[in-house]
Amino acid sequence: MTVFQSLWNRIEEQTAHLVVVGLGYVGLPVSARFAQVGFGVTGLDVDEHKVAKVNAGVCPIEGDEPGLAELLAEVVAAGRLRATTDYTVCQKADVVLVAVETPIDSIHQPRYSALRAAVRALEPNLMAGAMVIIESTVAPGTMDRLVRPILEANGSRRSGMDFYLIHCPERVMPGLLLKNLAHLSRVVGGDTPEAARLAQRLYRTIVEAELDLTDCVTAELVKTAENAYRDVQIAFANELALICEHVGADVWQVRELVNKSPGRDVLLPGAGVGGHCIPKDPWLLAYGASGTVSAKLIPAARDINDFMPLHMAELTVDALEEAGQELEGARVAVLGYAYLENSDDTRNSPSEVLVARLQELGAEVVIHDPWVPEYRGALEVRVQGCDAVVVMVAHDEYRRFDWSVLKKHLRHPVLVDGRRVVVDPGRQLPGFVFRGVGRPQVRSAAGSGAGP
Ligand SMILES: NC(=O)c1ccc[n+]([C@@H]2O[C@H](COP(=O)([O-])OP(=O)(O)OC[C@H]3O[C@@H](n4cnc5c(N)ncnc54)[C@H](O)[C@@H]3O)[C@@H](O)[C@H]2O)c1
Repeated sequence: MTVFQSLWNRIEEQTAHLVVVGLGYVGLPVSARFAQVGFGVTGLDVDEHKVAKVNAGVCPIEGDEPGLAELLAEVVAAGRLRATTDYTVCQKADVVLVAVETPIDSIHQPRYSALRAAVRALEPNLMAGAMVIIESTVAPGTMDRLVRPILEANGSRRSGMDFYLIHCPERVMPGLLLKNLAHLSRVVGGDTPEAARLAQRLYRTIVEAELDLTDCVTAELVKTAENAYRDVQIAFANELALICEHVGADVWQVRELVNKSPGRDVLLPGAGVGGHCIPKDPWLLAYGASGTVSAKLIPAARDINDFMPLHMAELTVDALEEAGQELEGARVAVLGYAYLENSDDTRNSPSEVLVARLQELGAEVVIHDPWVPEYRGALEVRVQGCDAVVVMVAHDEYRRFDWSVLKKHLRHPVLVDGRRVVVDPGRQLPGFVFRGVGRPQVRSAAGSGAGP
């Protein structure tokens, strides 16, 4: 039997053993799903605390992830998923999936220390005939220039002959990890057509959507392009919001009417773009051609989106001024520290930028977030004695909140809304000074100098 046929059979019979390197937002649900459908899975992470939690059947992700904690407990109890920090487990792995972080540095270049370390640690432990799948998002050309050369170990083994190499980037989003994993189509980039077919057979066991086969560089381009596209679209919505504010119009109404025109779909403007992916994947795409093509639109979009939390600080200064309070010496409550609603993920959080800016301008900042352990607590208690409340994230708790009750807890009734959690400020915020991204200024009944 050929090596290909033997691995194919083990995947089909689900007797193949899988190792998933990196038990984060991607690797953890991937491990749990493969274990759920019957594979024996070992999760491998450098973080001992995470490994201990997984082995105890406890989900290390704190955000609202429907079904994940239950599934993890179930597959660990059933003995189909265990975790370790020891790379020698790869010696018995038919398939190794790599899902470590791939951030960028301060000059927007990929920082592949985790990816390089993972692939280097895997290389001496790679079993002959095994399949290696990189799920991490990488710049175009990375499979060719970084991953394959390490695994080929100076020509001592060859991709397509001694092992199979695939890039199958993830499309999941926090809050929807298991759902996305099952229902979003995937791009399966093989270093050889046989590698792509094997990976397709594997993903068929957990993905109920299209699996598009291609080569590695196309898969790298598709993944980084889909997030760069989204970033550019959000930047357009944000630029439109800034224009609307300036001329005194409501971007939400403008957006709704623009989107009635065929083929238009203006996205939601807001207080900034965060998370591990959207702020860096456009730079990975641009990096893929750096030195040859000088990208212009991608950096411009990044600039606009990076400016939005700073703009929230501008709106706060302006609103406080109307309330008769300077920002310097003011106490400001920042609501939401995760980058996304109902998530505990604080990576590249726009709130972090806003907090730093407010502090730089002399404000005292208190933070509330129902999903981030260090910032939990009763909202009314957190905002007690504050001069302004700034909403950065549309957590459900904030969408449902009756903001008018805050008035008695605040020193100045000032609310700055970066996510349109207040739909009708005139009605919902009597006596408040209000500012919002893309919203016309509302002069409250209390008007200028509202406060004690
Ligand atoms: N978070 C998302 O929603 C999402 C969506 C699509 C794609 N991605 C991509 O998937 C990749 C992983 O993202 P994530 O959000 O899961 O990251 P994460 O930071 O949540 O998880 C990465 C994990 O890898 C571990 N790790 C780091 N170096 C290691 C090593 N050498 N050996 C073993 N483990 C190591 C870390 O300890 C961590 O637990 C990134 O490339 C990201 O761009 C993420």
